[in-house]
Amino acid sequence: MLDILHLSKTYGSAHALTDVSFSINKGSFTTILGPSGSGKSTLLLNVAGFVAPTSGDIRLEGRSLLDVSAEKRNFGIVFQGYALFPHLRVHENVAFPLRMRGLSKADIEKKVKQALELVQLQPYAERYPRELSGGQQQRVALARALVFDPSLVLLDEPLSALDKSLRDSLREELRHLHKAVGMTFILVTHDQDEALELSDSVAIINNGRLEQFADPATLYNAPASRFVAEFLGKSNFIPVQAASGAPDAMTLQAAGQNLRHSQHAPLPGNTSNNRMVLALRPERIRLVNGHGVDGDANVVAGEIVDLSYRGADIGAAVRTDLGLLNVRLDTGGLHAMPRIGERVKLSWSASAGFLLPDDGAQ
Ligand SMILES: Nc1ncnc2c1ncn2[C@@H]1O[C@H](COP(=O)(O)OP(=O)(O)OP(=O)(O)O)[C@@H](O)[C@H]1O
Ligand SMILES: [Mg+2]
Repeated sequence: MLDILHLSKTYGSAHALTDVSFSINKGSFTTILGPSGSGKSTLLLNVAGFVAPTSGDIRLEGRSLLDVSAEKRNFGIVFQGYALFPHLRVHENVAFPLRMRGLSKADIEKKVKQALELVQLQPYAERYPRELSGGQQQRVALARALVFDPSLVLLDEPLSALDKSLRDSLREELRHLHKAVGMTFILVTHDQDEALELSDSVAIINNGRLEQFADPATLYNAPASRFVAEFLGKSNFIPVQAASGAPDAMTLQAAGQNLRHSQHAPLPGNTSNNRMVLALRPERIRLVNGHGVDGDANVVAGEIVDLSYRGADIGAAVRTDLGLLNVRLDTGGLHAMPRIGERVKLSWSASAGFLLPDDGAQ
C-alpha cells in the first residue's frame, strides 16, 4: 500500500500540489490524469524522491519515504525528459540497473533480451541513443525501468511519442505485464482511453488538487464534480434550478420543466446553494417517435441543428428548451437517417443522468 498523505508542493508562491491524499493498493494499476500544468509530474517526482514535498507524507507499507533517497526507493521510473545514458549502447542502458544490483552476467543477458523484446527493440541493441528516434528512445527508457522487476513503476507519459499502433501494442504489454508480474504501476497520461482501459483506479488532478480518486466506472458514471464529468468523455450539462423528493425518485426543475431523476450514489454535498447541473452523457439519450418510451423516462422535444457522421454512430446536436443537447445515435438502431432541421423527441431514463454541483468548469 502506497499512501499519499496531505501532500503539498509549492515553488515560491506557485502551488503545484495542494493537500493531495489517496492510497494505492499493492499490485494495482493507477493512472494520474489532468490537464497540462495540473501537477501530475510533480506528484510522481515526489513519489520517486526527486522532489521533496513542502508538507505532507508519502508512506510505503506504513513507512515514510521522505528520508529515503531516490536510489534507495528502488522504483522503476520513466520521466518526461529523463534521459538515457548517451555514452552507453541500448543494451548497456537497459543492463545498467541490473549491473547496479550485482546480477550475474548470464542473468543480465537474459533479462535485457526479454526487456528489449518487450519494447520491440532487439535489432537496435548495439545502437547509441543518438542513433534512435524519439519514440525508440522512449521505449529503451521503458525497458530500463521494467528490467529489474521493481515493486513500484512510475511512468510519466511513457507512450506519448509513439504512433498509434505501437502505443496500442505497448499498452497491451503493460497491461499483460501488470497482470503477470503483479508490479504496482502509476502512470501519468493525457489519454483518457488509456486511463480507462488500463487502470484499477484513476486520480484526476486539477490545478494541483485531487478532484476524484476512483475506479473508471465510478468516475464515468458518478463523477464528483463537473470538472471530472467534462474531463472524462463528453457530457451535456443541464442547469437545474431546484430538486425535490427522495434521491431515488426526484423531481428536478430545469427551464420550467419537471424532469424525473434518480440517483443511488450520494448526492453532491453542497447542492444547497441551488447551483446544480444534470450531467447527461450523449449515449444515454435516445431519439424516440412517440412509442417505446418507458414510464419513468423524460421526453423533450427539439430540432436537429447539426449532424456529424462518424461511421458507427452519428453525433446530433439538438436544440431544446433545456439548451443544446448532444446526442450520440447508434447507426444500427436508426430507421432513417436524421436530417438537419428535423423536429425530434429525445428521451432518457430517470437514472441516466447524474446530478452535480455546478462548479462552473468549462
Ligand atoms: N521546478 C519548478 N519550479 C517552478 N515551478 C514548477 C516547477 N516544476 C513545476 N512547476 C509548476 O508546477 C505546476 C505543475 O507542473 P507539473 O509539471 O507537475 O504539471 P503536469 O501536470 O505534469 O503538466 P504536463 O501535462 O504539461 O506535463 C506548473 O504550473 C509548473 O509550471
Ligand atoms: Mg508532466
